[in-house]
Amino acid sequence: MMFACGLYGILLILCIGQCMGQVLQFPDSFDGAVGESIVFAPDNPPPTSSAFWLIRWIFGDQPVFTSTPAETNIPPAYTDRVTVDTTTHALMLMNLTFSDTGTYELSVQTDKIYTGQTSLLVYEKVTDTSLTGPGELLIERKSIANITCEGNGNITSVQWIKDNNPLNPSVSIIFSSDNRSVSINPVFRSDSGEYQCTLRNPVSSETKKLNLIVNYGPENVLIEGPNEAGLGSLVSLSCFATSLPSASFTWKFNGTDTSVTTEKFTIEKTNLTNSGDYVCTARNHVTNQNVDSQSHILEVKDNGGDGGGGLTTGAIVGIVIGVLVAVAGICGLIVYLTKTKTIPKVSLGKNKPTNEAPPRRQEHELNYAEISHERKSRGEGVIPRNMNESMTEYAQIMHGASAKPQAPPPPYESQESKPSSLPEGVTYAQVMKRS
Ligand SMILES: *[C@@H]1O[C@H](CO)[C@@H](O)[C@H](O)[C@H]1NC(C)=O
Ligand SMILES: *[C@@H]1O[C@H](CO)[C@@H](O)[C@H](O)[C@H]1NC(C)=O
Ligand SMILES: *[C@@H]1O[C@H](CO)[C@@H](O)[C@H](O)[C@H]1NC(C)=O
Ligand SMILES: *[C@@H]1O[C@H](CO)[C@@H](O)[C@H](O)[C@H]1NC(C)=O
Ligand SMILES: *[C@@H]1O[C@H](CO)[C@@H](O)[C@H](O)[C@H]1NC(C)=O
Ligand SMILES: *[C@@H]1O[C@H](CO)[C@@H](O)[C@H](O)[C@H]1NC(C)=O
Repeated sequence: MMFACGLYGILLILCIGQCMGQVLQFPDSFDGAVGESIVFAPDNPPPTSSAFWLIRWIFGDQPVFTSTPAETNIPPAYTDRVTVDTTTHALMLMNLTFSDTGTYELSVQTDKIYTGQTSLLVYEKVTDTSLTGPGELLIERKSIANITCEGNGNITSVQWIKDNNPLNPSVSIIFSSDNRSVSINPVFRSDSGEYQCTLRNPVSSETKKLNLIVNYGPENVLIEGPNEAGLGSLVSLSCFATSLPSASFTWKFNGTDTSVTTEKFTIEKTNLTNSGDYVCTARNHVTNQNVDSQSHILEVKDNGGDGGGGLTTGAIVGIVIGVLVAVAGICGLIVYLTKTKTIPKVSLGKNKPTNEAPPRRQEHELNYAEISHERKSRGEGVIPRNMNESMTEYAQIMHGASAKPQAPPPPYESQESKPSSLPEGVTYAQVMKRS
């Protein structure tokens, strides 16, 4: 008895040394596709140096491949679809079916025993994916859009993308429990765009795209154009509207339909009967909405010809430029005259310090106009006397009602530049001499 026990003990120890053996490492599981192949290869194959006694692959508890130095056995179910690599003992399984899903185990016996196991999941690839949108045209705030993504095969995930961003659920965007369809209720214009659904499983994926268009409007219908126009000018009023699809337009004048059906209402040459009230109506034939603009008043003005009077922007620009040119011209003239000292500096008091004595004699720069009060009774112009005096220039000055004689103004006296003899009843004005 003691001997027997001792022998069993030795055998047990030997067996533990060999039976516990070496562990062959595999990935935990493999994903295979129906009809395709899979290779179960150990990460750490047994050394090829030692001769093997037995190589065995089993699926569940069914043998798949058994090989001894004497013979190799493959059951009929695996004939023609199984091969085993002679050095790594990797199993290649072809023409996969769903029933190949399960656990696979490899054992190799040399002077040691090597074992390892893994599992296989077989998926049918995703095929025939379709993305179906609503059949009818969508109208903002009124329509519901159901989009459904369907496909064949083992589908393990559904992913939705809109305009290259993930589509997220919201108050109006609701996903079905299996994520295969999305209901947008109601649709808004911002829901327009490219939708994309991807059906996936570990061995395949398919993506389909769908464009959704949400129609809306017309909104913000307005007329742009002048409110005034010169008689005979070209006038164009434009109607604008926010609308999808683009709106079509009609125009009313003073409440009556016109034949104009374009975005622009053009009057080639205005006449006075074109004055009045213009309204454009924008129509969206999908939303079936008609929206009127506010009324636009046009007044055609008779400005005695060519429609001037600041009616068009061109005319305004012209006038402004004209005024600027005139002002510039006057400024230039003043500067020129000042520089050439034709205007006596003394008269520009603040340009000269007060303690500096004014030029004593400026007679050569001063001229006097002799103002005669010898008016003709009918108010005609008066020709001054002594017109032919070479150094004297005369200005014709209209005098008020009174013909009373007036004294010459004091500054002339203080400058001692007064002509020696002044006729009674004559007013003098200081006049610039030209040269
Ligand atoms: C295995 O698949 C190949 C193509 O990959 C095919 O030609 C062959 O007929 C299939 N064999 C079986 C038994 O299904
Ligand atoms: C959209 O889907 C919901 C449920 O998913 C359904 O009740 C509704 O009738 C569908 N609407 C259309 C327009 O298909
Ligand atoms: C794929 O679907 C089939 C039925 O269509 C099922 O038998 C099989 O187990 C599925 N495979 C996986 C990995 O879920
Ligand atoms: C549906 O998709 C969301 C993410 O978009 C995900 O969190 C959820 O688990 C999915 N549900 C199903 C049943 O696939
Ligand atoms: C004024 O112009 C309109 C077109 O804009 C034209 O139909 C009409 O006959 C013109 N009236 C006169 C009086 O010329
Ligand atoms: C259009 O209406 C305006 C007033 O709104 C009126 O002055 C003008 O005479 C009308 N023109 C025509 C052609 O009816």
